[in-house]
Amino acid sequence: MAVQLNVKGIDHQDAAYQPMLENLQANILKSHARNFVRLLFLQFQADDDAVKAWINQFSRDRVKSALDQQRAIEARRAAKANNGSFDGGLIANVYLTAEGYEDLGFDADRLKEKNRSFVDGMKSSRVRRELSDPPVEKWQAGYQKNLDAMILLADDDEGKLTAAAGAVKASLHGLAAVVAEEKGLDLKDPIVPGGHEHFGYKDGISQPRFFTDDVDKTQKDNIDLNMTQWNPLQPLEIVLVKDPFTDPNDHNYGSFLVYRKLEQDVDGFNAKVAELATHLTLTPNQVANSVTAEEYAGALVVGRFKDGTPLVNADIRLRRSPAPNDFDYKEMDPKGNICPFHAHIRKTNPRGQGVLVPERFITRRAIPYGEPKTADEKGLLFMCFQSSVEKQFNFIQNTWSNAPGFPPLRGNPGIDPLTGQGHEGDQRWPRRYGSEEEVGFDFAGFIRMKGGEYFFAPSLGFLRSL
Ligand code: HEM
Repeated sequence: MAVQLNVKGIDHQDAAYQPMLENLQANILKSHARNFVRLLFLQFQADDDAVKAWINQFSRDRVKSALDQQRAIEARRAAKANNGSFDGGLIANVYLTAEGYEDLGFDADRLKEKNRSFVDGMKSSRVRRELSDPPVEKWQAGYQKNLDAMILLADDDEGKLTAAAGAVKASLHGLAAVVAEEKGLDLKDPIVPGGHEHFGYKDGISQPRFFTDDVDKTQKDNIDLNMTQWNPLQPLEIVLVKDPFTDPNDHNYGSFLVYRKLEQDVDGFNAKVAELATHLTLTPNQVANSVTAEEYAGALVVGRFKDGTPLVNADIRLRRSPAPNDFDYKEMDPKGNICPFHAHIRKTNPRGQGVLVPERFITRRAIPYGEPKTADEKGLLFMCFQSSVEKQFNFIQNTWSNAPGFPPLRGNPGIDPLTGQGHEGDQRWPRRYGSEEEVGFDFAGFIRMKGGEYFFAPSLGFLRSL
């Protein structure tokens, strides 16, 4: 019997979902939540049977299911309750590109429905035009090559992760070349405390949730806010699709993964925020106690202060964890003069503005790379899961972030100052908190796409059948 994908809020214990969770790779419905990450981008070299045998064995030995992940979370919770600790160990995932499927002898067109870009690939001129991406010659060398697969490895212990990555690379010798490799930053490092990205803003606050217990927890944490405006609970259909390369009667599901390496120019961003601040007039204490003009200007760019407090909730500035996520623009800021329409989180999730938002939600799994406070290149290894790259990531990037005219509510709000690409011109900024008086100011270009690809996270049923 097929799993109901349109139900909001599922229970791990529900027997109807267990076979699906047993065959779904971990890290899709819930983040792996490990501190260290390695990404290995592969180009297959050997004949398809040898590569298939490797994937089959690796997925049996290393790849955990969503159910394994849930059991580990429960074991950790139980250990914590007894003042003990529990090591969930390594998380490993295998993702394939359309080209990877073709190399292994599968017709990638079977994944084409609502995912034409997956089949065409991120390097195709059609996709690059749609997303306003830079020419492939400007991408990092490794990503200019054709990619067949990505292996994600994550662990709380960096030493164990390095050893695991070394073992994977050694076992791939003669089968696949590692054409690019990425190291995710230590998320617990005090320089990036609590999951802040390189510009210093808390990330990963707003996510769709699929399990009722995740929402219960969020609600408990936000008890004073009662979660009356915003419910993160979403149906599985926004993230899962049936794996077409398995028996339709089996419980095998997968998800489309968008990967983009996004370089961040931290000094340039900070200088531009300071420049924007000089164009605004901040009345002391008008936003909240002790907000500087620069903090306010930065919040106008992102839509949240650095600690995660949403600009529309600035009057209840809580400075606590978790940052509040219970807000809606329709009620709290219909004219966009508190949180501007172009602010990153308002562009990418225009809550309650009359557009069909839920079917656009992406499940983000990004992780920063590059040492903070050094001259080294740094940025975000942006990753998100969805059931349709056309309707979700591509739509958000192209029709919302890159579009100066979205939302069509107040003239031309301008592009998303963080991630918008391909269009020039001023955004419209409220001169003061809540003011209808606007200032025109062009803010763009501090995030640069260095390469990327569309992947599919196959079911374990598929990987273990190879
Ligand atoms: C280096 C690149 C990026 C940076 C620094 C960045 C930063 C942030 C920050 C600080 C937040 C607030 C935390 C939160 O609400 O969870 C956020 C939220 C979000 N970002 Fe990004 N982001 C980047 C790229 C992207 C891209 C490429 C997309 C998709 C096209 C995207 C989509 C979103 C979405 C959907 C949210 C949640 C909005 C909400 O639900 O209210 N981000 N981002």
